[in-house]
Amino acid sequence: MEVFKEINALRQALNHSRSKSLKIGLVPTMGALHEGHASLINQSINETDITVCSLFVNPIQFNNPDDLNTYPRDLERDIDFLEKLGCHILFHPSTAEMYPQPSVVKFSFGSLEQSMEGAFREGHFGGVALVVSKLLNIVKPDKAYFGQKDLQQYIIIQKIVQDLNIDVDLVCAPIIREESGLAISSRNERLTQPQRDVAANLYKALQLGRELLMNNHDISSIKQEISHFLAQWPDICLEYFEVVSQSTLEKIDNTKSMDDVALCIAAYVGSVRLIDNIIYQK
Ligand code: PAJ
Repeated sequence: MEVFKEINALRQALNHSRSKSLKIGLVPTMGALHEGHASLINQSINETDITVCSLFVNPIQFNNPDDLNTYPRDLERDIDFLEKLGCHILFHPSTAEMYPQPSVVKFSFGSLEQSMEGAFREGHFGGVALVVSKLLNIVKPDKAYFGQKDLQQYIIIQKIVQDLNIDVDLVCAPIIREESGLAISSRNERLTQPQRDVAANLYKALQLGRELLMNNHDISSIKQEISHFLAQWPDICLEYFEVVSQSTLEKIDNTKSMDDVALCIAAYVGSVRLIDNIIYQK
């Protein structure tokens, strides 16, 4: 695997690949790589000729300095992980390389960022949007891979690609879970084993929500049931549970207009903030 820290050197190498008509896949990450990332990288390796994984802990998407400071970082382990998967290129820029001067460009996503992660993490999606736009412009991939785990992030990136006519196919890959059902996340590393066991109840809550939807319970009573269910574990502090349209993320308040519904949850387990979702097809 080749490792690039500089944009120009990476661009030169990729121009060379493109001149040989090789297809390029991009998997943007913030490192602390796990099986969720591996599934995206494997899919890219299967579907393109050159897979570029970017590893950059993007400071401007963290609304909480503690979260940025405690974000797990282990470059050597990540390089080893990527080599074993057969990833071709790692792009690991410094903050100065990505942001040589403070950026003035601002993104705004209207109602798309006023709920869920957008509402609870001010400025988060502006930071994600800027770094993903930069990465798409630097790598110019044929395909770029993101996880359903961050559903709102995916929908927002889809919007950027549409609005700016970026020539890339986006892929939304399914959520990889631990055996307990807990969605795999870099932040899980900060949970103790008992907290990890407790955290699996977030997925159980989503499944309970789906079951109640299937039995035509109304949304406000489902929300009450879910907070009542999670209140059994004092380590869990629910931030939101929402039932939204999978494609527009608009809140759904009655069970009749449900073709493509996502049930989304965010909660603290101890001091670690976790998110998860499931898609409900009628
Ligand atoms: P990060 O949290 O490292 O995630 C990188 C990609 O892996 C995202 O597209 C995310 O949705 C996906 N992913 C994470 N956990 C997953 C799981 N359990 N199953 C499947 N996919 C999973 O998301 C980011 O980084 C950043 O916001 C980024 C897009 C890199 C911009 O900085």
